[in-house]
Amino acid sequence: MTTNIAIDGPAGAGKSTIAKRVARELSFIYVDTGAMYRAMALYLLRQNIEAQDTAKIEEICEQADIAIAYESGEQQVILNGENVTAYLRAEEVGKMASASSPNAKVREKLVALQQKLAREADVVMDGRDIGTKVLPDAAVKIYLTASVRIRAMRRYQELQREGVSSSLEEIEKSIQKRDEQDKNRENSPLRQAEDAVLVDSSEMTIDQVVEEILSIYRKNRESGL
Ligand code: DC
Repeated sequence: MTTNIAIDGPAGAGKSTIAKRVARELSFIYVDTGAMYRAMALYLLRQNIEAQDTAKIEEICEQADIAIAYESGEQQVILNGENVTAYLRAEEVGKMASASSPNAKVREKLVALQQKLAREADVVMDGRDIGTKVLPDAAVKIYLTASVRIRAMRRYQELQREGVSSSLEEIEKSIQKRDEQDKNRENSPLRQAEDAVLVDSSEMTIDQVVEEILSIYRKNRESGL
């Protein structure tokens, strides 16, 4: 039996930074499920599929073989034999991932891969539906969130550090839109699992959030959960 930790929450809540740190502390494997949806989106873009063409997405997604590998502890996503990790953060890939990830066929395929990874190793997995759908028996479930304002500010500062000029107001609007899409979609909407612990990171440092999750994990383990 493996031990799994599920971290869900809206875009920009800091899930990947936190999940990576928790995984390192516990010597678990970090699994970024958003990257899998992005790899699928990249494949669809390369096949010139329109984001609205649901029938075509269902047909074409069957041809995308997505696998995960690790290089120096960092997750790599392999698409039909090619390491595509470097292309996944592009804006257009994110947009296509947002449009294609609600598709039931796409989800079926990627959820199966995620469940297989969690059966084979102790993982910290982050996404939108990990606690509710992918790993309903995870030892620890965290719903990590932060206010829209704070998430927008973090993203704005990140872009500033990268030398990209942007507008805080625009970022805030786009985060709000993304939240609505994620929460209101029919298939696997973003919501807190009943047995998930809510962690609001608005007023917390990364270290504090990591410590909070580790302490929930230790407590659950002591009480034999
Ligand atoms: O977390 P991210 O931005 O890398 O995710 C990319 C897209 O995939 C985003 O639109 C949400 C979606 N996603 C999903 O539907 N289910 C997951 N478990 C992870 C991500």
